[in-house]
Amino acid sequence: MPKMIITGGKTLNGDVFISGAKNSVLPLLAATLLCDGEVKLYNCPDISDVENSLHILNSLGIETAFKDDCITVNGRMPINTTISENMMRKMRSSVVFVGSILARRGKAVISTPGGCELGPRPIDIHIDVLKSLGATVTEDRGKMLFTAENGLKGNTIDLKLPSVGATETAILAAVTAQGTTVINNAAREPEIGDLIDFLNKAGADIIGKNSSTITIKGVNKLNGVSHRVIPDRIEAATFMAAVGSASGSITLHNVIPAHLESVTEVLTRAGCKITAGDNTLDITAPKSLKSVCFIKSLPYPSFPTDAGPMICAALSKAEGNSVFCEGIFENRFRYISELIKMGADIKIEGNIAVINGKPLFGAECKSFDLRGGAAVVVAALGARGTTVLSNIEYLNRGYDNLSEKLALIGADIYIKE
Ligand code: UD1
Repeated sequence: MPKMIITGGKTLNGDVFISGAKNSVLPLLAATLLCDGEVKLYNCPDISDVENSLHILNSLGIETAFKDDCITVNGRMPINTTISENMMRKMRSSVVFVGSILARRGKAVISTPGGCELGPRPIDIHIDVLKSLGATVTEDRGKMLFTAENGLKGNTIDLKLPSVGATETAILAAVTAQGTTVINNAAREPEIGDLIDFLNKAGADIIGKNSSTITIKGVNKLNGVSHRVIPDRIEAATFMAAVGSASGSITLHNVIPAHLESVTEVLTRAGCKITAGDNTLDITAPKSLKSVCFIKSLPYPSFPTDAGPMICAALSKAEGNSVFCEGIFENRFRYISELIKMGADIKIEGNIAVINGKPLFGAECKSFDLRGGAAVVVAALGARGTTVLSNIEYLNRGYDNLSEKLALIGADIYIKE
C-alpha cells in the first residue's frame, strides 16, 4: 500500500491553488438528478469522494464525464431508484442522493448507513425531513425504502440540529415538491449557499441563503445549468495550518476569505499575519506559534469541526497550552494517538483536548480518517525528522494532489508506492 513520506523542517513559501469544495460538489451532483438537461459543474476536485459520487450517478443510469475540472451530467435520462450497499458503505454522504431520487421517482432504496470513523452518525433527521414532506419510510433487513407515490408536499420543517446533510436533503426533496417548504434551524454552511445558488440558476425558487430559515416554493421542473463550485475552505484551512506548523509565507488563490474568518481568527491569535484579498489569502507564520487558550468547533460561522484536527496538529508544537473543544462529533480525536507518537503532549477529556506544546519528531503513523490523516501531515511538516504515514487513501477522499501542492511550496514530501 502506498505511504506518504514527509521530512519536516522546511519552511513553506509560494502560491497554492485551492480546489473546489468537496462538501459542495457532492450535494451538487445529487442535485443534477433533478435537472432536465445537461449540467456542467466547473472547479470540481479530482478526489475519490467525487469519483464515488459519479459511480452512484452511473449506477442510477445517468451519463457523466469528468474532464479537467469540469463534470458534465446528462440529467435527462430515466433513473433507477436504488443505491447499492457497496456505494453506501464507501461514502456515508451518499445519503444526500435520497432526497433527489425520491423527488424524481417517488421511491428510493438505500442500505442503512453504518457508524463511521467519527462515531455514530445517524440519519434520523434526514428521515424526519422526508417524512414531513410526505414520504413513507420502511426498514427491512438492512434496507430502507422511501416512498411518496403521490409526490412530495411542502411543509414547515423544524430541524432539531442545524445538520448540514439534513438541510441539503430537505432542500433537494422540497425544490420540486408541491407547495412551499420552510426549513427552520437550517445549517448556514457556505456549501448550502452554493447548492441554493445552483438550484436557483436551474429554475428553483429558494430564498434564505446564509440564513437559518430557508423558504422553498416548489417548481415543476429544473433545467440544465452551468455552475462553478465554491472553493474548498477546509483544504484552504489545511494549508493555513501547514504553514502555521512549518512556518513560512504562502498565498492561497481561489479562496473566499469570508468563509475562512473563524480559522483566520484562530491563526491570528497564534501569531500568524493574515491578509485577505478578493480571492486570495496571504499567510505569514512565525518560527513558533503561540498557544490559543480556547477553540470550540460549532456550526458555521463558528470554527469548523473539519479544520479542528489540522489546527490542533499545528498547535501541538506551539509555545504553551491550547484547549480545543469538539462541539459536533463524538469521536473526532483518534488522530491524537498519532500526534503523541510524534512527541505531542495532549490529554483528552471527553470532547476536550488539552494541548501542551512540545517539539515534534518524525514517526510511523496511520490515518484513521480524512482530516485525521491531514493532521498528521501538518504535524510532520513542522517535526524534526521523517514521518511515514500509512492508510493515505483517506487523504484521497478529500484532497486533490495534497502532496504535490505541498511539494510545490517547498515541503519535503512524496508518495512511496
Ligand atoms: C457535513 C460534512 C462534514 C462536516 C459536517 C459538520 C459533507 C459531505 N460532510 O457532514 O465534512 O464535518 O457536515 O460540519 O458535507 N446528526 C444526527 N442525525 C442526522 C444527521 C446528523 O444526529 O440525521 C448529527 C451528527 O451525528 C453530528 C451533527 O448532527 O453530530 C452534525 O452532522 P451534520 O451537520 O449532519 O454533518 P454531515 O452532513 O454528515
